[in-house]
Order: sequence, then structure tokens, then C-alpha cells
Amino acid sequence: MGFEDDIEPLKQAALAEFEQAGDLPALDQAKGAWIGPHGKFTALMKQLGGLPKEERPAAGKLINVAKQTLEQALVARREALELQAARPAQPSDPSLPGRRPRLGHLHPLTQVTEEIVRSFRKIGFAVADGPEIEDDYHCFDALNTPADHPARDAQDTFFIEGATAPLLRTHTSSVQIRVMKEQPPPVRIIVPGRVYRRDNADATHNPTFHQVEGLYVDKGVTVGDLKGTVEFVFRELMGKETRIRFRPHYFSYTEPSFEIDFSSPLTRKLGKEWLEIAGCGMVHPQVFENVGYDPETWTGWAFGFGIERIAMIRFGISDIRLFYENDVRFLSQF
Ligand code: DAH
Repeated sequence: MGFEDDIEPLKQAALAEFEQAGDLPALDQAKGAWIGPHGKFTALMKQLGGLPKEERPAAGKLINVAKQTLEQALVARREALELQAARPAQPSDPSLPGRRPRLGHLHPLTQVTEEIVRSFRKIGFAVADGPEIEDDYHCFDALNTPADHPARDAQDTFFIEGATAPLLRTHTSSVQIRVMKEQPPPVRIIVPGRVYRRDNADATHNPTFHQVEGLYVDKGVTVGDLKGTVEFVFRELMGKETRIRFRPHYFSYTEPSFEIDFSSPLTRKLGKEWLEIAGCGMVHPQVFENVGYDPETWTGWAFGFGIERIAMIRFGISDIRLFYENDVRFLSQF
């Protein structure tokens, strides 16, 4: 058998091996075995020199064509294997149901606020609103807390530079004034909202927090009405077994004034029978004078409490700062 007859079977064998290579390393190996420096096809080419001179051109041409075929086959097989490697191991199944995007939910403080609002709505209270950037008059003066009043120290706040020195409201009580100045009695409102104090943040303080204010003005309103309302709402919020008690206190815009403590399985879980939760009292006659209501005709009560505190007790949260960090690991628990 002549040299030229060896070319075709070798080529066919090489092509078959390239086709069988299952991945890129296998293909590289097959390439080396055939057309590498010590490859079988290379060995055949080396024999070319041993042929009689007149046979060499024709044989050389044949062998070059065959080598080109092998090289083209290698390129094609490499492309096919690369494509295969890039494909996902698990082919996608378009008949599978789609994945739902994760839905968020309301922030725990918003949830608690909505619950508070819902409880008050049941007994006829409307929601009122007021500005967070306030002035001295609505935040203090009209609430019977003049500039030299010591109660102002307890509510140190952020003042904004300017001729009229607006400030960030320290409590939602400022909205009592705004509402009463705008509408004649009777009044039955609650005011959920953000308030600001120059407090350093720690586990129970934050320079920004939230309050709910309540104001009820009508004829013949008594402390009994106040107690009954507070008891109803706190039972809704903290459970049926909740008890409340009033302790005498001082607020310049109410007389008499009280602090409200409550007791429930939740407070016992925190190791306390009673926990202080709100301030309240009968609207001071001077406040009625300031807004143009006749204190001889009108009576009323007001209260204010912190929403964070309610949420912390309800959910057993030990650090107020968690509410503002927006860590989904925390938020997704509610
Ligand atoms: N404004 C008070 C505070 O920020 C809470 C408060 C006490 C509101 C008595 C009232 C009230 O309406 O009558 O601590």
C-alpha cells in the first residue's frame, strides 16, 4: 500500500476521535494525539521526505488538504463544545409557574398607628394633621407654656435659623391649637405624627419618634369620659385584660393632669406590673381662651402617647433604634 493510501483512513480516524471528544480537555488531547509534534498525522507528514522526488508534490498536496480538513473539524468541534459548556446544566422549563416577586408590608410603626386610628374611629374620632415644622406659639405659648416656663427644658428641640425661628415640633399637642383655631367646638380628633427632640439615641430614645394626640371638646366632659376612652383604646391595643390607672402629674395645658399607667400580661412579661404609657388631663381654661373657646361653656380632655413605646411593648422589641435602621431581617418579622 502506498503512502497516499494511508492518508484517508488516518484522516477518518482522526475526525471520528474529534467528534467523540466530550469536552474541551478531551478535544485538546485528541488534537495533540493527531496533529501535535508527536501526533500520528504529524508522523505521516514526516515520512514525506522519504518519498521519491517525483511523488512528493502530489503527496504533499494531498496531505496538506487532509490537514486543513482536520484543523477545520477541530475549530467546529471546539465551538460546539464551548457552546455546550455555556449552557445551564439544568435546562429551563418554560411550563413551570413563575416566581412571585417578594412583596413587602407596612412598617411595624405604621401597622400600630393604623390600629390606633382604627380603635378611635370606632368611637367617633377623626384624624387631624399639622406641620412638623412649627413655631413657638403653637408648640408652647398657646399651650400655656411661655418662654420662661421650666417645662420647656424637658422638650429641648431643634430650631431652624431665621427671623421667626421655626422649630421642629416636640409633641403633637401643637395640633390641638391648630385644630381649635380653625373649627368651632365640639371637637373629637386624634393626631398621629412625627415629633422631634434633641435627645441622644439610645435603646429607648431617638431624636425623631411618633406620637398620637387626642382631643375631645364638648359640653360637660369629665375625667370619667377620659378614663373610659383611654381604657377602651388600650384594651383594644394591648388586650382585654389591660387595666389602667391615673397618677397625678403636671402638664401646663391640662388641669388636672395625669400620667397613665397600664398593666397587662405584656407588662408582666417585662417584669413590671405597671408601665407608664401616656400623659393626659382636662384641657386648661387658658388654652381654651387662647384659641377663642369660652371656658365657661366648653370642657374637654386631651392626651398624648408615644407610638414606638406601644409597638415595643406589643412586639417585645428592646431597642427603639431598630425601627429606623430598615434592616429587612428585623422588618420582615412583623
Ligand atoms: N405632649 C406631652 C408629651 O409630649 C403628652 C401629653 C400630655 C399630651 C398631656 C396631652 C396631654 O395632650 O394632655 O409628653
